[in-house]
Amino acid sequence: MLDVEAIRKDFPILDQIVNDEPLVYLDNAATTQKPLAVLETINRYYKQDNANVHRGVHTLAERATASYEAARETIRKFINAGSTKEVLFTRGTTTSLNWVARFAEEILTEGDQVLISVMEHHSNIIPWQEACRKTGAELVYVYLKDGALDMDDLRAKLTDRVKFVSLAQASNVLGVVNPIKEITQMAHQVGAIMVVDGAQSTPNMKIDVQDLDVDFFAFSGHKMAGPTGIGVLYGKEKYLEQMSPLEFGGEMIDFVYEQSASWKELPWKFEAGTPNMAGAIGLATAVDYLENIGMDAIEAHEQELIAYVYPKLQAIEGLTIYGSQDLAQRSGVIAFNLGDLHPHDLATALDYEGVAVRAGHHCAQPLLQYLEVPATARASFYIYNTKADCDKLIDALQKTKEFFNGTF
Ligand SMILES: Cc1ncc(COP(=O)(O)O)c(C=O)c1O
Repeated sequence: MLDVEAIRKDFPILDQIVNDEPLVYLDNAATTQKPLAVLETINRYYKQDNANVHRGVHTLAERATASYEAARETIRKFINAGSTKEVLFTRGTTTSLNWVARFAEEILTEGDQVLISVMEHHSNIIPWQEACRKTGAELVYVYLKDGALDMDDLRAKLTDRVKFVSLAQASNVLGVVNPIKEITQMAHQVGAIMVVDGAQSTPNMKIDVQDLDVDFFAFSGHKMAGPTGIGVLYGKEKYLEQMSPLEFGGEMIDFVYEQSASWKELPWKFEAGTPNMAGAIGLATAVDYLENIGMDAIEAHEQELIAYVYPKLQAIEGLTIYGSQDLAQRSGVIAFNLGDLHPHDLATALDYEGVAVRAGHHCAQPLLQYLEVPATARASFYIYNTKADCDKLIDALQKTKEFFNGTF
């Protein structure tokens, strides 16, 4: 059990009135709020330690470098990577997945396939569309069964033509969690490289990249109580050694001659230019914060909230919930529609009650096309949300329904 009241005190942003109502923040899948510890780390870094990393010999530069590299070690431990060589700092999941797809361009040829699913976020679709377009490879989709990944469809499509499998561990719309360990074993059996979009799973569950045996794993700091503009790409050393740098310039070089250059060793060969030092250090503090609470406890808390709110949502006549009804397969994301009310109107009505939810296509247009809905509303929960927040959501939905005369 989380001490949610204590946790809430660490997030002063939550303590505010929105439209005359206490804020209920349920847009955590888009971005989470940041605890004081993270804000203080960033503040302290700029107040005391700020200097460019890796190149200075003065005290501040050495302090900044030590903190930046210590942050990498914190992340390594958090995801149980074998070495800090395998932990690259990026701008976020989107950049991380773009990098892997660019690497794929070096490998893919005509006739090869890339296997993704219809529930992917655009950032795990478009980079693969581009890689396939440039190489002549084919982008193949796995579809859904009962609101979750159709494992039979996946099995049928996972042939030795597939060179990359790239899947979200947790969907940002359906809220379902995919069995990544099992799928990775299946992918490896056909010789495919397994890529995981961990944007929605890393904030909520223990990640062990060695146990999962994934080849690449991407996530964003801002969805897990960390700062914006920082994320991670984990890659197995054997692939990162093979992979060419994606950006060129300062920091990533060993020697530069007039006509050629050589690269630094891993992980720095990928980190061209001045990195986001404050972001990396802030992310490490977020990781410490989450680990102090306990990733298992965080996952259990979200399960508890979902188990509490899901039947209440189901009981609202006219409300359609998307994704699997098997709550054991779900994380803390619920997408829904209320009758034929446009989700933007629904989200605006909920905002009048102080409840912040997202509305739109959630950067998953192929999924919404597949579900044959133009948009949905989405509530997503995190460590500071309570059952009272769930009640407020239900109450606000009921009020919205009454306001529109219960016409659905
Ligand atoms: C499943 C999933 N993948 C990728 C992303 C992209 O993350 P970012 O915008 O931090 O790069 C998101 C963000 O919403 C997401 O939910």
